Amino acid sequence: MTVALGIGCDRGTPLATLERAVDEALAVVGLDRRQVAGLGSITLKADEPGLLALAAQAGWPLHFYPATQLAEVVVPHPSETVRRHTGTPSVSEAAALLAAGTTEAAALCVEKHRLRGDDGRHATVSVARVMPRTAIPPCVASTDPNRRFTVAEREAVQSLMQVRRDMRHFSAGTQIADDVRARLQSALLAAPSVGLMQPLRVLRITAPALRDRLAAAVDAERMRTAQAMGSRAAEFLALKVEGVRECAELWALVLAPDDGTLFGRRTLASEMAWCSAGAAVQNLWLAARAENLGLGWVSLFEPVDLRRLLALPEGAAPLGLLCIGPVDRFYETPMLIQQQWRQARPVSAVFTENGWDPSWNTDTSAITEQPLHG
Ligand SMILES: Cc1cc2nc3c(=O)[nH]c(=O)nc-3n(C[C@H](O)[C@H](O)[C@H](O)COP(=O)(O)O)c2cc1C
Repeated sequence: MTVALGIGCDRGTPLATLERAVDEALAVVGLDRRQVAGLGSITLKADEPGLLALAAQAGWPLHFYPATQLAEVVVPHPSETVRRHTGTPSVSEAAALLAAGTTEAAALCVEKHRLRGDDGRHATVSVARVMPRTAIPPCVASTDPNRRFTVAEREAVQSLMQVRRDMRHFSAGTQIADDVRARLQSALLAAPSVGLMQPLRVLRITAPALRDRLAAAVDAERMRTAQAMGSRAAEFLALKVEGVRECAELWALVLAPDDGTLFGRRTLASEMAWCSAGAAVQNLWLAARAENLGLGWVSLFEPVDLRRLLALPEGAAPLGLLCIGPVDRFYETPMLIQQQWRQARPVSAVFTENGWDPSWNTDTSAITEQPLHG
């Protein structure tokens, strides 16, 4: 069995105390240090000498998680005292799970092993099984096709749609656990698509150099867009329009070369393929918010740049870069409204009956990029 450790400790806990706590915790389940794949803790401890020495000496990858990310993990022993001091009710249990690539509490084989060292400092160690990738379940809570949703569930879905935001500010240095990523993937695959053609392909960007090149392509287009904005250029440049460099996960969205599906798209072939891709992203957007993760769709790039960087085949079209990851705070309203870039439309500007509403012909206020004031 391979495990990951989560450690919480007092400031200044010596290496010897940490080592003893780790060895004792592993011994509880008959393991030793050779079976440890990595170590997690809270970003508050990113400069803790004992922890750094422990990881360096054992050659363990060391992951630090922000309090907001640790606080999202449901653990067996949340502590109010720990929350008061660190901002999360759990450090060791939550960090062990995240370092093991999961948020399933059942993966914990040692929930909390506490030690007070001879020096008086405290260390707490949790041990979590690293789940083999293939063991990640398809993660659907209930597949009963006739399930009836309760009022509370309906309200949860309504609230999810209202508080979903396009996010551009992400907590840096974070990761997404494998089981969370699996749930996002299954949400995307559950989306409707014309003729069930499922035209969207997702390229997860894990190479830092490629992420940098994609970020540079976005920067370049941001400047070209600003130039095209005329009098609103400076205002546009003041907006944050992407979080490509700092988000936990970067996914490139690509429309696959047309497979010739005729069902539902004889007359609007490309439009229906693009709409199907959009429907899939919306599922993902909501699923990410339900995981308390932010998601931002970035469409500021020259398609030719992404085609080259991602080595896309003839006929494949880049649709966007999705920034996904933990955020410190979600925007209260769409950021473009908060920043007074643009107003949202009221119901009457969107819904009517039996035909086009002629008043919409003169509705240019919301679609113009001209300054709102002056
Ligand atoms: C297809 C698509 C592309 C988008 N591209 C960008 C983008 O490049 N940069 C950005 O800041 N927001 C982008 N957005 C986000 C929109 O600006 C955002 O959805 C809108 O302002 C409403 O905010 P909300 O999603 O928080 O409700 C995009 C949204 C969609 C649907």
